[in-house]
Amino acid sequence: MKVIEIDGLSKSYKNRKAVDGISLTVAKGEIFGIAGPNGAGKTTIVECASGLRRRDGGTLRVLGLDPWNDRRALLQRIGVQLQEAALPDAIKVGEALRMYASFYDRPADWRKLMDEWGLADKERAGFAGLSGGWKQRLFIALALVGDPEVVFLDELTTGLDPSARRMTWGLIRDMRDRGISVVLVTHFMDEAEALCDRIAIVGEGRVIAEGSPRELTAAGKSASLEDAYFALTGGGTE
Ligand SMILES: Nc1ncnc2c1ncn2[C@@H]1O[C@H](COP(=O)(O)OP(=O)(O)OP(=O)(O)O)[C@@H](O)[C@H]1O
Ligand SMILES: [Mg+2]
Repeated sequence: MKVIEIDGLSKSYKNRKAVDGISLTVAKGEIFGIAGPNGAGKTTIVECASGLRRRDGGTLRVLGLDPWNDRRALLQRIGVQLQEAALPDAIKVGEALRMYASFYDRPADWRKLMDEWGLADKERAGFAGLSGGWKQRLFIALALVGDPEVVFLDELTTGLDPSARRMTWGLIRDMRDRGISVVLVTHFMDEAEALCDRIAIVGEGRVIAEGSPRELTAAGKSASLEDAYFALTGGGTE
């Protein structure tokens, strides 16, 4: 079963094409990676697919819904961790989780999430005083508080320390094992290799290559996914 079907998606900002005819599908329970250079259009794809931005062209289905036209219904069933998210400075960790839980008809147990993400000690800490990595953990917990069927994670592990990153990998696998479908935007090829069932490499708003880590490595005639990434994007400096 496909939980995400994107066909010919396009999106421009003013005259600049950010996404230029992207097609991809994500199956239920899959961890699907999106990689590619800065400015390739990854965040724009995530924003269009999660109902946060209106597409210019193409068709989009997420859980059978049109992300823009049916976004009220869709937002109850997905979780989104955005690359550049912010909360009011004074809000406390516990308050943020409780408030987000109140947005959903059937939320997860926010106290349990707070424990799972090691945030319990910070329940009364204000958002502004958290370090980057702790803010990131809070955003992950907030993405999960609606007990979503599909989760979009945009550069989830950027800024996390090595142990938090590994813990995050474990939690992403747990999500998949529970049947949640995950779209993971990442710049880390070790992460993509370790986690993703399939990956799309995008460049200049188009899909350059798509497949399992093994298939992409072979397509790039390379020894590793990272080398294949450079071969496929032409981004190597050697
Ligand atoms: N709100 C916006 N207004 C104008 N241009 C934008 C806006 N958001 C993105 N763009 C442009 O659209 C293109 C794609 O941006 P996008 O953020 O989707 O890329 P990305 O692949 O997520 O990059 P990164 O790896 O740096 O996060 C870029 O050229 C960017 O400058
Ligand atoms: Mg981005």
